Amino acid sequence: METLPAGAAPELPAELTLSGALAGDEESIVIRPAAALRGRPALPGDKSISHRALLLALLAEGDSRITAAGDGADVRSTAALIAALGAEVERLGEHDGRVDYRVRSPGGDALTEPEAILDCGNSGTTARLASGLLAGRALFSVLDGDASLRRRPMARIVEPLRLMGAVFAGRHEATRLPLAITGRRALTPISYQTPVPSAQVKSAILLAGLAAEGETWVTEAVATRDHTERMLRARGVEVDEGSAPDGRHTVRLAGPASVRTADETVPADPSAAAFWLVAGAMHPDAELLLEGVSTNPTRRAIIDVLRRMGADIEEHHRPAPGGVDGEPLADLVVRSSALRAVDLSPADVAAAIDEIPVVALAATAASGTTRIRGAGELRHKESDRIAGIAAGLTALGARIRVDGDDINIIGGGPLTGAVTETRDDHRLAMTFAIAGLIAGGETIVVRPGSAGVSYPGFFRELEGVRA
Ligand code: S3P
Repeated sequence: METLPAGAAPELPAELTLSGALAGDEESIVIRPAAALRGRPALPGDKSISHRALLLALLAEGDSRITAAGDGADVRSTAALIAALGAEVERLGEHDGRVDYRVRSPGGDALTEPEAILDCGNSGTTARLASGLLAGRALFSVLDGDASLRRRPMARIVEPLRLMGAVFAGRHEATRLPLAITGRRALTPISYQTPVPSAQVKSAILLAGLAAEGETWVTEAVATRDHTERMLRARGVEVDEGSAPDGRHTVRLAGPASVRTADETVPADPSAAAFWLVAGAMHPDAELLLEGVSTNPTRRAIIDVLRRMGADIEEHHRPAPGGVDGEPLADLVVRSSALRAVDLSPADVAAAIDEIPVVALAATAASGTTRIRGAGELRHKESDRIAGIAAGLTALGARIRVDGDDINIIGGGPLTGAVTETRDDHRLAMTFAIAGLIAGGETIVVRPGSAGVSYPGFFRELEGVRA
């Protein structure tokens, strides 16, 4: 049994690393094209569900078990954070790149004021959801993160949480980490329309709403991932969802409410499965099986977008929904496909926000011009992903035009190996590595270690699927 906190050591097979050559002094990885792709790559536990399972285990007095959680650096940041707030966190075991946790918590009313700064690492979900949780607890805390997280916008959570009565201080008028939070019990409930569709913002408000006296409402233009709602319900909190007359999505939670313990089994992460779905669809000789993937309606857009592009994806539903939250699960089989261009609306982009980099890669192999419209939120992720996608795919020989917040990709031309810059962004690192399986020649992925943020076993699986 290992104790926390554990570091963010990304795993790279030694034979694949290359120091110095071609990429200055930075570590790089060389990916050569695969003759064929076969197999069943092991997938990490869903990152969004893993974060929430840990945070809700902190709020619930007693023991919670979390089975098959994601074991990337981001989820480890959340595990360390709840440990600093008074939970006993044990790693019970590891299997296939996943981890089982037991969390013993004194409960949300008996948290420990942390002695040190809470380090959220690279994880926006940790920072934003923890801010909501801490807003409603009577203690002082400071959240910080790495250079990327310090650049990311926090006004989106600070504004509603201030309206509820929490006090924030920080740089740029408390819109960037490090952020100091003075929380309090008995927050004021609010009715809040999120300015951009964001599950992180919605979740932060709902977690604060647990400590508010009355009904907290969140309205969003597009329904974002609903794990927080499902998981709160499974832990005894009443959460209603509905539609406003203008079609917007509403969520309501009545506070004050306490969270009960629950044992969670985490499904495979559809955002990680996305890399193999695209690899399988693009490669001329491929068949890959992805097991136990969450096909939650608020997460499955990647499957539907790729099918609109002509991807051959079979979906075998597992008979019973998995886990206490009723997440629907499926085994997915993807095969080589003739892809065609697609027009993605801003709502499509919101629904597949984490998968857009790898969808852009798929578009390079599609006949016609793919349009990805209203993708501005991608500039506020772990890196400016619009710039990162455009630079990386252009280096690989793709034809891409960025027009404001729209990305246009003229597909059909072959990709040729090149040096690709990951900007220390996990989703860019994995996108360019997948490109390397298909591109002619050698693809160099510079500083690929960030893949460990969400998918520590990724590069091992990448070698494993070569047939
Ligand atoms: C997440 C929500 C999304 C997503 C992120 C995880 C979550 O962010 O990009 O990787 O777990 O709630 P936004 O809700 O801010 O778009």
